[in-house]
Amino acid sequence: MSDRKILVTSALPYANGPIHLGHLVEYIQTDIWVRFQKQRGNSCYFVCADDTHGTPIMLKADREGITPEQLIAQVGKEHLADFTEFGVAFDNYHSTHSEENKAYSTLIYERLRDAGHISSRTITQAFDPVKNMFLSDRFIKGECPKCGAVDQYGDSCEACGATYSPTELKNAVSAISGAKPIPKDSVHYFFDLANFTDMLRDWTNAGHLQAEVRNKLAEWLDGGLQQWDISRDAPYFGFEIPDAPGKYFYVWLDAPIGYMASFKNLCDKQGLDFNEFWSKNSDAELYHFIGKDIIYFHALFWPAMLSGAHFRTPSAIFAHGFLTVNGEKMSKSRGTFITARTYLEHLNPEYLRYYFAAKLSAGVDDIDLNFDDFSQRVNSDLVGKVVNIASRCSGFIAKRFDNRLAEQCSEPALFQDFVNANQPIAEFYEAREFGKAMREIMALADKANQYIDEKKPWLIAKEVGKDQELHDVCTMGLNLFRLLAVYLKPVIPVLAENAESFLNIASQAWPIGAQPLLNHAINDFKPLMTRVEANKITAIVEASKENLEKTAAPSSTIKKFETIANTIEFDDFAKLDLRIAKIIKADHVEGSDKLLQLTVDIGDETRNILAGIKSAYAPEDLEGKLTLVIANLAPRKMRFGCSEGMVLAAGPGGKDIWILSPDQGAVAGLRVK
Ligand code: 2FM
Ligand code: ZN
Repeated sequence: MSDRKILVTSALPYANGPIHLGHLVEYIQTDIWVRFQKQRGNSCYFVCADDTHGTPIMLKADREGITPEQLIAQVGKEHLADFTEFGVAFDNYHSTHSEENKAYSTLIYERLRDAGHISSRTITQAFDPVKNMFLSDRFIKGECPKCGAVDQYGDSCEACGATYSPTELKNAVSAISGAKPIPKDSVHYFFDLANFTDMLRDWTNAGHLQAEVRNKLAEWLDGGLQQWDISRDAPYFGFEIPDAPGKYFYVWLDAPIGYMASFKNLCDKQGLDFNEFWSKNSDAELYHFIGKDIIYFHALFWPAMLSGAHFRTPSAIFAHGFLTVNGEKMSKSRGTFITARTYLEHLNPEYLRYYFAAKLSAGVDDIDLNFDDFSQRVNSDLVGKVVNIASRCSGFIAKRFDNRLAEQCSEPALFQDFVNANQPIAEFYEAREFGKAMREIMALADKANQYIDEKKPWLIAKEVGKDQELHDVCTMGLNLFRLLAVYLKPVIPVLAENAESFLNIASQAWPIGAQPLLNHAINDFKPLMTRVEANKITAIVEASKENLEKTAAPSSTIKKFETIANTIEFDDFAKLDLRIAKIIKADHVEGSDKLLQLTVDIGDETRNILAGIKSAYAPEDLEGKLTLVIANLAPRKMRFGCSEGMVLAAGPGGKDIWILSPDQGAVAGLRVK
C-alpha cells in the first residue's frame, strides 16, 4: 500500500459561538476522510484551530466584560470538547491567536510586500464617534435606499435583496452605539490580487477544484480581480501589521495562515518536517475542506497569497453544501438550531456520523437532516442490519463453542466477495462519495443477513449432530460482520472498536487480502448500538428551543409567552442602548391626536422622537423632565415625520401611561442596564 503524505484541514470555526450541527457536516466529512486515509496506511495529518480574530469577537468579549483572550480560551476549550465527543480526531487543534500564526502571517505579508504585491492608499469609511472605531458594513444600520425598509445592514437589504454601499443607507446609525456615523479617512493596505490573474487562471483549471466551483471561479476571474483590503484600524483584536503601527491584519488574512500555524505547532510537538509539507517543491498532498460560502477566500486569495510568498499551493479545495433540518434553514424558534452539546446530551454521536455519511457526496449540494429519515436509517441500517448479524451469531458461539470460532468458514467464496468489495468502497471513500460507500456496505450487510436467513442457525441448533455446521455458519456470519465493521470504521469508529474488542482482534487496517478469522477466541457479545428513540429527538428539539429561551427570560416567564417565536435572545436585548434622556422640548404634532414630538438630550446628541403619549401628557408637563429612551433604534419614518429613537412607557394606555423617571437626580445620557 502506498504511503502518501497528506495534510488535511477543516475550516477554522469562529471563537464567538458554539459548534452546531451545521458545522458538524464539515468536521465529520473531513474526519471520515482522514480516518479512511489513516486506515489505508497513509501518513495523514488533520489540523484545525479556532478562528479568533476580528471585531465580533472583540465586541462579544466587551459585552461579557472579559478580555478577548479569556473569551477565546473558553470557547476554544468548548469547541475541542464538542469535536472530541463527536469523534472528530484532530492531530492538532490550535488557535489563530498564536505565536506560530503571528510569525507566518508576518512572513507571508513581508514576502508579498517585498515582491510588490501590497499597496496602500487612503480610504474614507464610516466611523462611530462614540465608540471611536471604524464601522464595517455589518455594524451600520439604516433605511434601505431602494425600498425604505428600516433596520437594514450596511451592505444589503433583507427586505428587498438590494445590495449597496453603507454610504447609500438613509439615516444610518452605528449598530454598536446608535451614534450617527461620520466619514473618516484612514490609510489601508491592499493585496494586489490582480497580479495573480494568470496564475489563478492556470491553477483553477488544473484539477484542484470541483467542476461547479471551477465554473464559479471562471466567472469571478472574467469579471476582473479587485484589490483586497487586508488591514483594519485599531481597536481590533488581531495581529498588528509589522510596519504599520495601529493597523491590524484583517481576520481573513491570518485565518488560513492558521492552517500552517496549527501544523507548525504539531511539527514542533512531534518532530515532523514543516517544509516537507509546505515548501514549493513539496510532494505532500494538501487538502482544505470548506463550506461553499468561503470559496472566494480559499480558491482565490489563499493560493495567490501562498504563491506570492513562495509556498506550495493546495492540492485541492473540497467544498460542501449547507445543512438544512427537516427541509428548512436551521431555526431557533422551531428548535432545529441544534448545538453539538445539546445533541450530545441526548443521542449517540455515531448516529449522526452515519447519517451524514449516508447523505454526503463529493458535490456542493445542501444536505438535509430529516429526523424521521434519520431514525429510520440508523435503526434499519446500523442496528437492524449490521449489529444484528453479530447478535444473531454470537450467542451460539458463546453457549455452544465456548466463544471460539470454528476452524473453517462455510462459504469461502462469499467471504472473498466481501474482501473484494474493499476496492470499490475505497474508491468511493477516496472520492468523498460517502453516500455511495454506505450503499455498497449496506448491500453487503443485506447479503450477510440473507446468508444467515438461508442457513437458519436457530434451526440447525435444534438438530442433533449438526454442531459442526452450526459452528461454521456462525463463524462465517461473524467474519462477514467483521468486514462490515472494518468498512464502517472511518464513519463509526467507536462501534468498530467495540466490535474489535468483541472479536478480540487488533485495530483493523483496510482489509486488502484479508483472511477469515478462524480457530480464534472471541469475547462475550455486548450490544453495540441501540435504536434511536423518538422521544430523544423530541427532547433535542425542545432543549434547542430552551437554549433560546434560557437566554431570553427565566422559564417561569417563558411559560407566559404564547409562542417561543415571540421571544428574543439575551444578545438581542444587549444590543439595546437604553439611556436616561432629558426632554428639552415637547410639541403637539399637527394632524395627530396620538403623538407628541419630543426633543430629547441623550448625552452626546439631541434626538427628535415621536411618542404616542398625547392621551396622558400635555407638552408643558414634560419639558425639563427625564425619561428612558432606546437610543440605538434605527430611525423610523412615520406618517408625521421621522422618529429617531423610542421613549419607553409603562401602563395600559389612555391616561395611564408613565414615561417619567421619578428620580430627577439622574443625568441625561446615563446608560441604563
Ligand atoms: O467562515 C468561517 O467560519 C471562518 N471562521 C472560516 C475560516 S477558514 C480559514 F481560512 F481559516
Ligand atoms: Zn430594501
